[in-house]
Amino acid sequence: MKSSSPKALLPLLLLSYFGYAFSGNTPAEDDTSTTTDALAGNIQAGEERYKKTCVNCHGAAGKGVASYPKISGKEISYTKSMLETYRNGVKVGPNSSLMIMMAKPLTDEEIADLAAYLKDASP
Ligand code: HEC
Repeated sequence: MKSSSPKALLPLLLLSYFGYAFSGNTPAEDDTSTTTDALAGNIQAGEERYKKTCVNCHGAAGKGVASYPKISGKEISYTKSMLETYRNGVKVGPNSSLMIMMAKPLTDEEIADLAAYLKDASP
């Protein structure tokens, strides 16, 4: 029987990746200045989401590591549109395939949260 489906591999990869990421420890931070404006995204939720996967490539607080770009300190609208672009599977740079894989599972809410967190993130 011929039933090879390369597409079926991606969810599997992601599952194992997230399963690994979720086993990480939870940061117990005491930041009372966190904003929770729904439209602007939730900074604290964004930070938690960031630490699950993004930190592995973009480094602490999005400051960038080697060939992985710095992504903190940018306008919320810029970060959002970049993540939406990757989520749509659009290539923008030489290594977009990595980012497309990372952005595919993001919800609108997660994108808003991440963009809000990254705007003022500092290590
Ligand atoms: C596997 C490594 C990796 C992971 C994990 C990763 N990224 Fe990226 N990211 C990259 C690379 C590589 C690029 C540049 C891609 C290109 O060439 O288009 C990039 C680009 C970006 C950009 C665009 C930067 C710019 O100004 O052009 C944003 C925003 C971004 N990543 C956010 C995130 C967020 C948020 C997460 C977590 C959901 C994340 N990344 C996870 C590797 C990664």
